[in-house]
Amino acid sequence: MTESESGPLSDPFARRPLGTTGLDVTAICMGAAPLGDMEGVFDSVPGESRAVATVEAVLASPIRFLDTAAGYGDGTSERRVGMALRASGGVPDDFLVATKVDPDATTRDYSGDQCRRSVERSQRLLGMDHLPLVYLHDPEYHDDRELLRPGGAVDVLVELRDAGVIGTVGIAGGEIATMHRYLDLGVFDVMITHNRYNLLNRSGGALIDAAVARGMAVCNAAPYGSGILAKGPARYPRFMYQDAPAQTIESATAYESLAARHGVPLAAVALQFSLRDPRVSSTIVGMSRPGRVQETIDLARQPIPADLWDELADMPFSMIEGV
Ligand SMILES: NC(=O)c1ccc[n+]([C@@H]2O[C@H](COP(=O)([O-])OP(=O)(O)OC[C@H]3O[C@@H](n4cnc5c(N)ncnc54)[C@H](OP(=O)(O)O)[C@@H]3O)[C@@H](O)[C@H]2O)c1
Repeated sequence: MTESESGPLSDPFARRPLGTTGLDVTAICMGAAPLGDMEGVFDSVPGESRAVATVEAVLASPIRFLDTAAGYGDGTSERRVGMALRASGGVPDDFLVATKVDPDATTRDYSGDQCRRSVERSQRLLGMDHLPLVYLHDPEYHDDRELLRPGGAVDVLVELRDAGVIGTVGIAGGEIATMHRYLDLGVFDVMITHNRYNLLNRSGGALIDAAVARGMAVCNAAPYGSGILAKGPARYPRFMYQDAPAQTIESATAYESLAARHGVPLAAVALQFSLRDPRVSSTIVGMSRPGRVQETIDLARQPIPADLWDELADMPFSMIEGV
């Protein structure tokens, strides 16, 4: 790499501490949401064998961190991750599998009892007695009073942590106002924010600052805004799991031109934008096919001219959630 080029701040495949949790991770985490076969959410539905092969490719790669959730396809993603883990002889010592508790898919019950059932099912599907990192998932879709009442989901997660069933408790969600309220509880050690800190949208910047100021580790999910910044706006004109507004497509096209002018893939710029941020412990990249693993490694290692980052500082981005 020459002086006029710069890569990510440090080796994305060197293990680094996940805040103060005592866990080590790589700066890239495989996001297993697309493995849940959730029709209409992602670009494609991988089906069982492709999904399992994708996780197997991750296990054989320098990426040593995987993110799933009970709710991704109502256990489908976790079950497939578990199949790949079993086939490879269990979770490797240097590999971290994180999951999230979710409400009942039918009744939407998100009580303390449901939280306990969600953890038990994750243990079973993943084939893991001990879950080292479990997040409370998407609190913005539920009443705070239900989640926060004595004996509710948050209390149960803390109880399971104290009993050693769970290692670390995190908070994972979208809507920024809700996330601030949950940070203020002071019970979570890791935060996932998604689709709010990427080339197109930086509305989550202050939330990341708030988490870091509390000593929490931050995982930044969806560096491609669910795909548009990897596949390009012409091929995939969707942002954050829905059709992208014209303004978002225009902005993505401008970033695509910037990347092309400097002879690098748009996806490399999008990925390294997050990797370069010292506040972000790990960047969670969704993938649903085995070939994505090597592509991601190459994108993370792609030299990017320093001039591009200088130009990028003058590019527009949204501070409004969702666009
Ligand atoms: N509330 C939460 O906790 C929350 C919310 C959102 C996300 N997350 C986590 O963060 C992860 C990442 O978010 P995301 O998956 O929604 O969005 P993302 O990472 O921005 O984008 C994922 C999409 O990008 C495509 N992609 C990845 N690498 C590519 C490449 N090299 N070339 C072309 N296309 C590529 C994938 O397509 P293919 O399917 O074709 O591989 C996938 O559909 C999730 O999987 C999940 O684990 C958590």
